[in-house]
Amino acid sequence: MKKLKVVFSTGAGVSAESGVKTFRDADGLWENYPVMQVASAEGFAADPALVHEFYNARRRQLLEVVPNEAHRLIAELEEDSRFDVKVITQNIDDLHERAGSKDVLHLHGELMKIRSVKDEDYVEELSADDFETTPERRGRNGHPMRPHIVFFNEAVPNITPAMQLAAEADVFVVIGTSLAVYPAAGLMSCVAKGTPIYYIDPNPASTGGVANVTVIREKASVGMKKLVDILHSKLG
Ligand code: OAD
Repeated sequence: MKKLKVVFSTGAGVSAESGVKTFRDADGLWENYPVMQVASAEGFAADPALVHEFYNARRRQLLEVVPNEAHRLIAELEEDSRFDVKVITQNIDDLHERAGSKDVLHLHGELMKIRSVKDEDYVEELSADDFETTPERRGRNGHPMRPHIVFFNEAVPNITPAMQLAAEADVFVVIGTSLAVYPAAGLMSCVAKGTPIYYIDPNPASTGGVANVTVIREKASVGMKKLVDILHSKLG
């Protein structure tokens, strides 16, 4: 029997119940930090120490939190042989992976990785006991390094495979994103005609006339429980 291909596209809201701050909610990260100073190429060039310290702080926080029920329910679906599950995420945390998801495509980079400023393909993984970076820290190849993060106004290399995954989905599920940042926000428009889309978010954004969207106005954990029931009912 053909597996049902379920493609998730997650944003900061999927990690909110783990205690990771979202960006644009009240008291979100971008309310408390000067976004263009800490998350743009210009900001990095002007004050690399500030940018390194911003991401060091994010890493410290990430190491204190654990995946929540929503991450776990997604990973559990992957264990069910009737489903072919893929995860696209805008998040730079590794909570999907720590919950057990094996196929995670990060659109905006990964917090626990750094890359060479001279060669974007040279990437190193940081460890829990050695994750602090500074402008002076060099990679094992001697290069100065930067966070492995897609800064504002930089290209999003993984958008091409993400669009392909969205186009192949039998069911497309969006969780916890304000749909404010492109190209990620446009993935809903890449699904094939007639494909059901579910959007789980307690405060959903406008989906701008995309067809077949069912909004589940819930927190990620509650919404995921409802979605699992819906998926099971689709299998009959
Ligand atoms: P935002 O902070 O813009 O949006 C968070 C969304 O999560 C909102 O729609 C909230 O309603 C929702 N939300 C809050 N709590 C939730 C919960 N418990 N369960 C489910 N949803 C919840 O975050 P993103 O849309 O992910 O990029 O932001 C996109 C990008 O903007 C980020 O990847 C980041 C940022 O600038 C980079 O840093 C490159």
